[in-house]
Amino acid sequence: MSTPIPLIELSALPEGRGRRVCKVGLDLAVFRIGDAVYAIDDSCPHAGASLSNGKLQGTRVTCPAHGLKFDLDVVCQPSAPTLEVKKYAVNVVDGIVMLAPDERSPNDSSVSAGKKTS
Ligand code: FES
Repeated sequence: MSTPIPLIELSALPEGRGRRVCKVGLDLAVFRIGDAVYAIDDSCPHAGASLSNGKLQGTRVTCPAHGLKFDLDVVCQPSAPTLEVKKYAVNVVDGIVMLAPDERSPNDSSVSAGKKTS
């Protein structure tokens, strides 16, 4: 039986900035925006820069290397598959950000550069 994977204490996530978290073989950029928490791969699909160091404006993170923007609320953009970043399902339990147990393997959930879809 799989169990959620603890990533980081919510209190250790600064509001409006990213934090790099490496767990269970994943290198994640985790963001706290108000009551919402997001986790994406911490590697820009353009040239691999760390997205956890990107500037956050609302739910949009800008890659610090060359400026691609990824909306954390957006899922897969089929028209730009090479610019997708995997998004992971997380929730907060007792003040700990938890990664869903089935998130260890790739799936179709991702965010795309500069695009907003539902
Ligand atoms: S590494 Fe070039 S835009 Fe992110």
